[in-house]
Amino acid sequence: MYSAEKERELIELTRRLLKDIPRIKTSDYNSALKYVDLLRKVIRYHDYKYYIQNSPVISDYEYDQLFRTLRDLEKKYPSLITPDSPTQRVASEITGFFATVNHYAPMLSLDNAYTQEELRDFDRRVRELTGLNRVQYSVEPKYDGAGIALVYKKDILIRGATRGDGETGEDITANLRTIRTIPLRAEFSRYGIDLIEIRGEVLISKEEFKKMNEDRLEEGLPPFANPRNAAAGSVRLQNPAEVAKRKLSAVVYQVSYVEPQSAYPPTHYEAIKMLHLLGFSTPFPDMKLCEGIEEVISYCKEWEEKRERYPYEIDGMVVKVNRREYYTVLGFTSHHPRWAIAFKFKPKQATTKLIGVVFQVGRVGTVTPVGKLEPVQIGGVTVSSVSLFNEDFIKEKDIRIGDTLLIERAGEVIPYVVEVVKEARKGEEKPIKFPENCPSCGSQLVKLPTEVAWRCINIACPAQVILRLIHWGSREAMDIRGLGEATAKALYEKDLVKDVGDLYYLKPTDLVKLPGFAEKAAFNLYSSIQESKKRSLERVIYGLGIRYVGLTTAKKLVEKIKSIWDLEKISLEELISLEGIGITVAKSIKEFFLRKENLEVIKKLEKAGVNLKKEKKEGPLKGMVFVFTGSLNCCSREQAAGIVESLGGIFSNSVTSKTTYLVVGKDPGRTKLSKAKRLGIKTISEEEFLEIIGKHTDLKSITGKEGVLF
Ligand code: IVH
Repeated sequence: MYSAEKERELIELTRRLLKDIPRIKTSDYNSALKYVDLLRKVIRYHDYKYYIQNSPVISDYEYDQLFRTLRDLEKKYPSLITPDSPTQRVASEITGFFATVNHYAPMLSLDNAYTQEELRDFDRRVRELTGLNRVQYSVEPKYDGAGIALVYKKDILIRGATRGDGETGEDITANLRTIRTIPLRAEFSRYGIDLIEIRGEVLISKEEFKKMNEDRLEEGLPPFANPRNAAAGSVRLQNPAEVAKRKLSAVVYQVSYVEPQSAYPPTHYEAIKMLHLLGFSTPFPDMKLCEGIEEVISYCKEWEEKRERYPYEIDGMVVKVNRREYYTVLGFTSHHPRWAIAFKFKPKQATTKLIGVVFQVGRVGTVTPVGKLEPVQIGGVTVSSVSLFNEDFIKEKDIRIGDTLLIERAGEVIPYVVEVVKEARKGEEKPIKFPENCPSCGSQLVKLPTEVAWRCINIACPAQVILRLIHWGSREAMDIRGLGEATAKALYEKDLVKDVGDLYYLKPTDLVKLPGFAEKAAFNLYSSIQESKKRSLERVIYGLGIRYVGLTTAKKLVEKIKSIWDLEKISLEELISLEGIGITVAKSIKEFFLRKENLEVIKKLEKAGVNLKKEKKEGPLKGMVFVFTGSLNCCSREQAAGIVESLGGIFSNSVTSKTTYLVVGKDPGRTKLSKAKRLGIKTISEEEFLEIIGKHTDLKSITGKEGVLF
């Protein structure tokens, strides 16, 4: 896409523009005209580095500066806005409905092969019709998302549509524009192409899917069954700004129409290569040219194994005749082309019997029905239980005990009931009865008119207390190593702890009373608890387990307050005025701080010296993200995290494209190192890390060690 020389040129231009920003901001029309062009050029390049190659060459902060400058210029001179400007991705208009559009070429589906024999049959037919002895195939993953068709005219994205019925689809251009991996312009003219229609798939990574469903559950919404449904639901949202928030990506895998015809690349492989070079995300380099069907079969097998490790859900491999010249003689059936076939992997669905239902009490008292299943293998994993979410879900699907259920396990997430196999009913199936009392403490369950779930509202309910302790100690909250499920349960049952505040009054001599806790384990847990007193305010707020308050909301709250006590005083209106906080969340926060029991816990935490104040975020490390691997000489990892956070930096446990430095200590792990290498993240030694922080920190006061610095 960019030659090394071009990259150097663009980086140089970036530097110049960044320096020039104050001047650019005040520029007149004529120089604005010049600058918008340059800004777009560099932003497009940085989008490509960030979203396609995963290796940004400037910081997020610098990128924002460039982006904002462009946006401000366009605001000042609206006539300079072009539809392919990077600013045009973040649409905010509500479309309200979708127009229907005709596809240039019908979007057919693919014939399926489930066995090697069926692949060989396909090959035999291709050889018979083409007269070839051996066929060259292009083989690539079959992505499981939402199908789309993109149209570019004179290098500009002019339309994006859903598959619809194959002939006509819905115009979802505004939504697709928000997806970063879809270029708003691409130089097809370089290949002599005036107009092109491309097929592809909108995808959600398995990781993102998991997060999305966790959020939905937290909000009382039914989760999506699989990443495909999540992607399909997302591209059809009525508000493009909402679409932009979902982390969608898109891959393109087929050129379906070209004007003029003569500009059509002669092979599928070359067509994909062209798209790849133009900056699209494509099956490249996971696409392979195979000589003959046996090579195809072994490549498919290789991928069936890789499938689980792939960040996106794939349900098979697509095998395509590589040379276009054979497409005419091969032709189409009424449903699919004869020049391609999908080799399907083993399904991630299975049917099994529902043998019973148990009811589990969650951290905030929600009672969730969990179906017990006759164990069944799905994609190599034994599944023996499935969440039935709530009473509405059960009613809607009409699930009864004894029913045969179709279960799907997608995206390495929890299994999901797709449907009841009604044909298998014998008439002996029994309705599921919800309990009236809490299965843990026996108190009467309640259901608020606006909610779907039954809840136990007894704050001292043992099941809830134990779950609150586990949540408080979890990695993203207070990160107390050693406070797992068994320990939390034992602490409660031995009457040592009734709420999270009590943890900080435990002595090692109390902890040795726990089953299996020798002196060393007791001391380690004691130290982890003490260590956690320094965690940031957002972690404390998240750790308290207020209903609907996840880490993101906790962070939002901390932007507004100085200490946790401000949350007691803050009004409902003020809470709602914060971005991303709706009425339900705001009410839940208010309710939490109205309860005397909760305030008592916070007082206990305060007395024990747990940090309840916002740390200074404005520090010299602001905007920098540090990840550590291996052990450090100077201090523990927690201490290092504390130092980073106290200087305004961010400490993170995993390497992502946002990471600024990976600090490599002794005996580093391979995963983080190789990921950093892949993403082009800078790795630094402990010495270099100390040099960065040493300028701002009195290390001795933190680590208690003398002379570790230089
Ligand atoms: S080619 C006429 N390639 O699978 C053939 N399709 O059952 C055009 N799909 O509707 C499709 N990955 O949504 C092709 N690498 C891939 C694909 C792929 C996923 C989807 C696509 C299509 C369906 C066919």
